[in-house]
Amino acid sequence: MKSRITPVCLLLLSVIAVFAQSTPEAWTGNARWDVRINDLLGKMTLEEKVGQLVQLSSQDFVTGPATSSDVMAEIRASHAGSMLNVTGAAYSRKLQTVAVKETRLGVPMIFGYDVIHGFRTVFPIPLGQAASFDMQAIEASERISANEATSAGIHWTFSPMVDIARDPRWGRMAEGSGEDTYLGIQIAKARIHGFQGDDLSKNDTMLACAKHFAAYGAAQAGRDYFTTEVSERTMREDYLPPFRACVDAGVGSFMAAFNDLNGLPASANPWLLKTILRQEWGFRGFVVSDWGSVNELKYHGVAATGKDAARVAFNAGVEMDMESKLYYPNLVTLVKEGLVSEESIRVAVGRVLAAKAKLGLLDDPFRYTDEAREKATILSPDNLEAARDLARRTFVLLQNLNGTLPVKKDAKIALVGPLADAAKDQIGCWHGRGDPKDSVTLRAAFAATFGDRLVYARGCDVRSDDTSGFADAVAAAKKADVVVAVVGESEDMSGEGHSRAELGLPGRQAQLLAELRKTGKPIAALVMCGRALTLESVLPLADSWLVLWHPGTMAGPAVVDVVTGAYSPSGKLPVTFPRSVGQIPIFYNHKNTGRPQPAGERVQYRSNYIDSPNSPLFPFGFGLSYSKFTYDNLRLSSKKLREGDAEIKVTVTLKNAGNVDADEVAQFYVRDLVGSVTRPVRELKGFQKLHLKKGEKRDVTFTLTPADLAFWRADMTYGTEPGRFEVFVGGDSDATLSGSFELLK
Ligand code: NOJ
Repeated sequence: MKSRITPVCLLLLSVIAVFAQSTPEAWTGNARWDVRINDLLGKMTLEEKVGQLVQLSSQDFVTGPATSSDVMAEIRASHAGSMLNVTGAAYSRKLQTVAVKETRLGVPMIFGYDVIHGFRTVFPIPLGQAASFDMQAIEASERISANEATSAGIHWTFSPMVDIARDPRWGRMAEGSGEDTYLGIQIAKARIHGFQGDDLSKNDTMLACAKHFAAYGAAQAGRDYFTTEVSERTMREDYLPPFRACVDAGVGSFMAAFNDLNGLPASANPWLLKTILRQEWGFRGFVVSDWGSVNELKYHGVAATGKDAARVAFNAGVEMDMESKLYYPNLVTLVKEGLVSEESIRVAVGRVLAAKAKLGLLDDPFRYTDEAREKATILSPDNLEAARDLARRTFVLLQNLNGTLPVKKDAKIALVGPLADAAKDQIGCWHGRGDPKDSVTLRAAFAATFGDRLVYARGCDVRSDDTSGFADAVAAAKKADVVVAVVGESEDMSGEGHSRAELGLPGRQAQLLAELRKTGKPIAALVMCGRALTLESVLPLADSWLVLWHPGTMAGPAVVDVVTGAYSPSGKLPVTFPRSVGQIPIFYNHKNTGRPQPAGERVQYRSNYIDSPNSPLFPFGFGLSYSKFTYDNLRLSSKKLREGDAEIKVTVTLKNAGNVDADEVAQFYVRDLVGSVTRPVRELKGFQKLHLKKGEKRDVTFTLTPADLAFWRADMTYGTEPGRFEVFVGGDSDATLSGSFELLK
């Protein structure tokens, strides 16, 4: 049917338009705040408006290549709507006082900070947290982090980082949830809810920021800041959904990424920032650049000058400039020259003011600057206990020959290795205001537990070639019943700007393990790391391998819990552990190819290597327990799922068939066998972390709706296609217990 615009329609439309103009614009949904924002927008000069779009770093603490400036003078001149790296109730009060009392309109600043895995109480690195598969514990950790950070004057965290990372060379894998989109979505939601709570205006909740938009984790060769080339289909299937989930969860802000995406840097990319984020997803918060990413448009080669970079970034949809110092005064000039619209500046400022209003800052700019609260909150015993509890849930047991772990009750322990007494390394990269002085190291916690049944020797450094400590380590091993060797990466080997080309144990650590092996004593190797490592060659050098990631402030007590058996390991790998760097990128949900390798055997003219198996060393989702779990009796509520039907239920019987009470993460995977485009060999569609007593059996049910089976079809519409699907349930992504059903139109 043809639509026709009649004169009556036109009249109605113009009445609506006039009415809309005379109604104050709705920025927050709260009439009182909206009136205030509209009033401020009406009073602000263009210069003051642009000032709201500028974010400067405190000069005392910087998290990027700093440029110097007289911050106080900038605030006084209304040229700083926001600051980052301002921490402490007293300091933030001092700066806020200048913004509120010494500027014409007294608009408070919003203070942002990288609260990535804790503020002062440091939780495990996000990748470790992902290994817990424990959404409640993750959300609780962000609640605590928000409470600590807000007590120290911070309103806004640059978290969660929801970049999918399939290349462990990339050091920032540490900051995210690993390789899987479904897991990434669940964690993104938990984190946002943890930070923002139900009411942003409470003084213990803070604004979250989804970063880095987008595909930053797909850096070529795993080298940080490097180019990304990702097809629109892969963007929409794999990289974008966690960001979309952030919008749906009500995240208050987005950060544009550094990377060049298919020829257009993310900080200059209207397809990302306007078409997807605003038009398709309806995001109503504001977008901040990454540190200096506006200025870097010059080096990408899409802007000739700083002014040009400001124009390109702002017009693409970057509303606040973090530390490039290019928005003021360039945007003022660009508006005057007609190259940036004044209306778009007004809208951007409205969005920033809306965030300030929602945080309660327009009502009381000093509500987050209470030193007494700060003192009572930071590092409280409850916070530390939560950090210990989450840490022990993140450890992944890769191998446990001869039941080496847990150690026997009266065993004599040799604690060796460069990371056994490493207060700074254990808190990992991006540790906020975490202070190594607060760390309880493994050595301290082991000493408190084992007393004079403990001998300690460092053995070697993480990275140097010095082997002079080997003799002491070997002597310690000879005196003990079991060796606990704490090896891996130091905190400065992952995180921003810390990519690696080799992923083995650095320095002389493998050699140290080889020397210890010669003593014939049982060895448990505990690995601190910020990524997946290639451990194949060192695996035989220890009986047990336990991945600790970087566990945070309470690493020591958490490790004692697991080493003594008070808590059975329950973590599962959120990233595939490759055999070699040559297998990278390697991830479980790859495509089948036209020449798949049959059952792990190398066959000529098939998709395989001549010098390596295709399989990883440890697959996504893998992790052992001190107990043993079995999966049986998979049944489906129906063999057919019709488009209109609500759901299909897949049930298995899980049994704790071992001798200890323990947690298990039951995982549910689906494979779409035939589609209009190729589909992954399997995809995670559900998981449950369950506690089962020894001998206990329990039915575990996963529910699937047609919406769970939708994908980007050949014509780039999103939806389902009828056909056969396989389902798999088990303890890792190689699960073999399976069934199938048919999706009918
Ligand atoms: C650069 C990082 O990429 C980003 O994640 C962080 O939030 C900012 N610096 C601020 O420190």
